[in-house]
Amino acid sequence: MRMYDIIEKKRDKQELSKEEIDFFVNGYSKGDIPDYQMSALLMAIYLNGMTPTELKDLTFSMANSAKTLDLSSIKVPGKYIVDKHSTGGVGDKVTLIVLPIVASLGVGVCKMSGRGLGFTGGTIDKLESITGYNVEIPINDAIRQVQDIGVCLIAQSSEIAIADKKIYALRDTTATIESINLIASSIMSKKLASGVDKILLEVTVGTGAFMKTIEDARELSKTMVKIGKLAGVETKAVVTSMSEPLGRNVGNALEIKEVISFLTADEETLDSDEYRDLREVVFEVAAQMIKMSGVSEDLEKNKKDIREAILSRDAYKKFIELIKAQGGHIYNVYMDWLGMSMDMPVLDEKVKYLKEIRAHQDGYIVSIDSRKIGEALVALGGGRNKKEDSIDFSVGFEFAKKVGEKVQEGDTILTVYYNDKNKFNDAYEYIADAINIDNIEEEAATALRQKPHILDIIDESNI
Ligand code: URA
Repeated sequence: MRMYDIIEKKRDKQELSKEEIDFFVNGYSKGDIPDYQMSALLMAIYLNGMTPTELKDLTFSMANSAKTLDLSSIKVPGKYIVDKHSTGGVGDKVTLIVLPIVASLGVGVCKMSGRGLGFTGGTIDKLESITGYNVEIPINDAIRQVQDIGVCLIAQSSEIAIADKKIYALRDTTATIESINLIASSIMSKKLASGVDKILLEVTVGTGAFMKTIEDARELSKTMVKIGKLAGVETKAVVTSMSEPLGRNVGNALEIKEVISFLTADEETLDSDEYRDLREVVFEVAAQMIKMSGVSEDLEKNKKDIREAILSRDAYKKFIELIKAQGGHIYNVYMDWLGMSMDMPVLDEKVKYLKEIRAHQDGYIVSIDSRKIGEALVALGGGRNKKEDSIDFSVGFEFAKKVGEKVQEGDTILTVYYNDKNKFNDAYEYIADAINIDNIEEEAATALRQKPHILDIIDESNI
């Protein structure tokens, strides 16, 4: 078999056989197929698509390209081990909030996450802004940790789905990321290899996501749910909006701070507008995970339990347990207003400069382009252009105003945290371009503020 013939066949829109797919997946994983041939094939797939049989064969071949895990020894109250994966976004800290919540309610989660690449952030980078947090623990220790405390959160192991790791890195530099077939096989191969019983996907849509339209997000969701079904692993997708950054903070250490604020919120803050978008996504994703785990079928009850887990601080205690278990440094602070002391992770957040970006006119914020904000973060040094780039965890943005909120000339819209004045100038161009203020009617602004963030839920019943 020759790689040249496989590329030619795909270029000419013919269906590849299982043997041909196994040939290039295994050959590329072992280093026998060069990047230039794999790039040509990926571009042919990007342009010509795949048949459902090719997609199934590609996903299963990538899932089997290295070790597959067996999590059956883990015994937690939830009958099924549930995994969660987001297709990526800007300010997306949902995993970091949801995992301790569901783990505190008896759901076992053994999660491998990725690093940020391009304009999307990565959970692993956010965690590494906590001093000492180890994302590379051996798989057997991670499994033991799930048994002990119900949750682990580690980087994608090189022992698992090695083909995806290599192919994803190549796609990132060859403009072949935004393909429904390639995204679906990438995500589902690593999830299937990680041995979980059920998969909850957060499929993001909008400027700050790989899927730009709801139709594409639905198609991607359906594609992944169908692959899960073929593999006998129940899969559900929650389609969420990523047209403006999620929450009020973007940047690694700043997002960890927002996670802490959310998990320690009192009733009034939790219900406030400050957390409207984040709350909606967190509650839906967590409630669905609890349902899938077998802990409780009733979504409304699950949402009440989630609320209670936050207000009682059980979810926050689980978060601290997770950070400690993976070596993160913790300090204890006394909070006057609470009359109690609390453990806090030590964050790498020593930023030199703060700059407030102010409204240049009266009106309402009508849009905040999340892709441009993601690119502004990369310009500040808080994200990567190339996968070997190092990251400045301390930089980022804190939004005082979000879409639909009223501003007067001179009001602060966001604060920029930065360390390098030249980088600030580069980032400023993206920021200025990202934010639009207009004089719209009050009702139109209210509608913008109240736009739902859960756009659809796709499972085996509606594919
Ligand atoms: N996330 C992944 O894991 N893979 C993709 O291809 C895109 C987003």
